[in-house]
Amino acid sequence: MTGENFLTDNPELYEQQFPDPEHVAARFVDDLVRRFADRAVTTPRLLDVGCGTGRDAGHLATLGYAATGLDRSVPMLTYAQRRHPAVRFVQADLRTFDLTDRFDVITCLDSALLYCHHNADLTVFLRRCHRHLRPGGLLLAEMRNGAFFLGNTELLDGIRTRTVTWHDVTYTSATRLWIDHRAQLLRRERVWTWPTGPRPLVQTSAWRLLFPAELRHLLDTAGFDVVALFDTPGPRTDPPWHPAAVLSDVLSGDRLHLVARRRNDAA
Ligand SMILES: C[S@@+](CC[C@H](N)C(=O)[O-])C[C@H]1O[C@@H](n2cnc3c(N)ncnc32)[C@H](O)[C@@H]1O
Repeated sequence: MTGENFLTDNPELYEQQFPDPEHVAARFVDDLVRRFADRAVTTPRLLDVGCGTGRDAGHLATLGYAATGLDRSVPMLTYAQRRHPAVRFVQADLRTFDLTDRFDVITCLDSALLYCHHNADLTVFLRRCHRHLRPGGLLLAEMRNGAFFLGNTELLDGIRTRTVTWHDVTYTSATRLWIDHRAQLLRRERVWTWPTGPRPLVQTSAWRLLFPAELRHLLDTAGFDVVALFDTPGPRTDPPWHPAAVLSDVLSGDRLHLVARRRNDAA
């Protein structure tokens, strides 16, 4: 195994580590579109930013969406295109993508929005989304909730160890999360070891810690109205999303779910 990120370089292993056999994330998107879309569209045009293995875009295509997936990882996109030929996949960075299409829905799932570490990145990304949505179109995002960490350290205590067997090799990961207060980032170090590995593989990631009021302000500035902002339920909460769910806006949970509508103004 090689590369800059063990999981994004090995998409099969990514899906094995984070299975979604019931397509809960894609169904969550479809249910929110049904609840909040301003008009019925026979084949909604949907862009999934940070699409990874393409499984969400792939399932949404089977539900009648004209789906496009966007990611910067070539291994992810190669795998996604092979698995989901009905979906168009585009290699681009979420801060600079520039497509000719206009979409009814843009999705940004599993904290992909939080790869925008700086306010300038967030502003640029939301303006990109504004430009690529039709007036009235929806931006749906699902991510970690910065507010969860106010007085809650349960995700920060200790090192979590997991093992996964892939192609007859057992890999062990030891994951540590901590808060970089100055940068307002949640940082992660994950150390992979395996019997035939020459040395441990150390990988680091970081997510912006965004607070609900901050997100509302950024969206307003970029030309969006917030239609719903809730912590539970969602595709990665317990209990998980279900179509008749009542949305909780207490916002103390570890996940934040956003539905925002593009206003008909310039961002
Ligand atoms: C945690 S995965 C999420 C994949 C998928 N959305 C899901 O929910 O299963 C994050 C994805 O974001 C992509 N990504 C990270 N930074 C990015 C950037 N700046 N521009 C585009 N994609 C990015 C990674 O390559 C990876 O595929």
